[in-house]
Amino acid sequence: MMSVNTHHAPRRGVRVVASGKCLPETRLTNHDLESCMETSHEWILKRTGITERRRARWDEGEKTSTLATNALRAAMQNANIAPDQLDLLLVATMTPDTPTPSVSCIVSRELGCGNIAAIDINAACSGFIYTMNLADAMARTGMYNTIGVIGADCITQFIDYSTYGRGAAILFGDAAAAIVLQASDDIELGMIAQRMHSEGEGSKHLFIPSQQIDFPDQEDYDERKLKKVQMNGQAVFKFAVSKFQEVIENTLNDAGLTADDVDHFICHQANSRILEAARERFGIPEEKLLVNIHKYGNTVAASAPLVFDELREAGRIQPGQRVMFLAFGAGLTWGSSLWQL
Ligand code: UT7
Repeated sequence: MMSVNTHHAPRRGVRVVASGKCLPETRLTNHDLESCMETSHEWILKRTGITERRRARWDEGEKTSTLATNALRAAMQNANIAPDQLDLLLVATMTPDTPTPSVSCIVSRELGCGNIAAIDINAACSGFIYTMNLADAMARTGMYNTIGVIGADCITQFIDYSTYGRGAAILFGDAAAAIVLQASDDIELGMIAQRMHSEGEGSKHLFIPSQQIDFPDQEDYDERKLKKVQMNGQAVFKFAVSKFQEVIENTLNDAGLTADDVDHFICHQANSRILEAARERFGIPEEKLLVNIHKYGNTVAASAPLVFDELREAGRIQPGQRVMFLAFGAGLTWGSSLWQL
């Protein structure tokens, strides 16, 4: 018997109806990076698994809301649901176009969703996982029926594409992907176990400073770092390897399942070596943990839903499967969302 770690027994379930994505057209290959910083295609591929990433043309108005709108539009078309049928829109992002309005309000306006609830959630790379858990809870209470969940980020605007910023420059790319959820009479469907965690102490390892006072260690201040991603790659790598494995284990235990009972591990794509370590630890076969980092790099909140959409497009997502969404990122944050489809 599966345990359900919500406080109240669910009166209804939640169905994953469809997904969609939007990728900027502009590609930034490892060879492009070689021409603006000291690095090499071979080094990047070996250390991260990445070959290329996409870059939004922010200066030409291609922003987080643009990608988010297109991703949800594609998902709604796949779901055969009209935008005015949505009653809640949740957008996971750490790179809104501007502090206000929220990305979710812009998406709602662009798609013609009407006066629905529209909320942005910032948990960096873990944002989509947090948002899926919140969406499930809000649907189960009976408050909302048809929910658009989007992961969207344009992080490359905060990257220094010189040798000085190469640690982060090689990793990140821009993208958006979305999932449409609907309340269902089948109470077996939906999230069956979840974890959401944070550790503010670790924020110093991955942050974007706006001014000198934002530097945790004042000695690290350098004007070139302002408004650019600052990352202690090795510290984040160690955190990610240990928390990723811990959260998989705890989520499986909460659900009373083993790794064999999960059909797809839908993982945040941060570094192929982190994913490989988790795969080996739990004996997960390659076909159950899709790696697409070579094409897109680390796309922050869009990363996990991009994997889901790729699996769905390939016909590999089927009713009756169990899928575990997983991510870790700045904050520091990490979490899981295990779903019965
Ligand atoms: O969503 C969560 C966000 N972030 C992450 O998950 C990031 C996790 N961390 C990582 O993925 C890795 O730490 C990186 C890919 C960022 C860096 O890889 P690493 O194996 O930890 O490299 P390192 O910083 O330990 O540097 C190793 C060597 C150094 O040279 P020496 O001192 O051994 O001669 C660096 O100077 O590689 C050099 N190096 C580079 N060389 C070419 C560092 N960055 C680069 C580069 N190109 N971009």
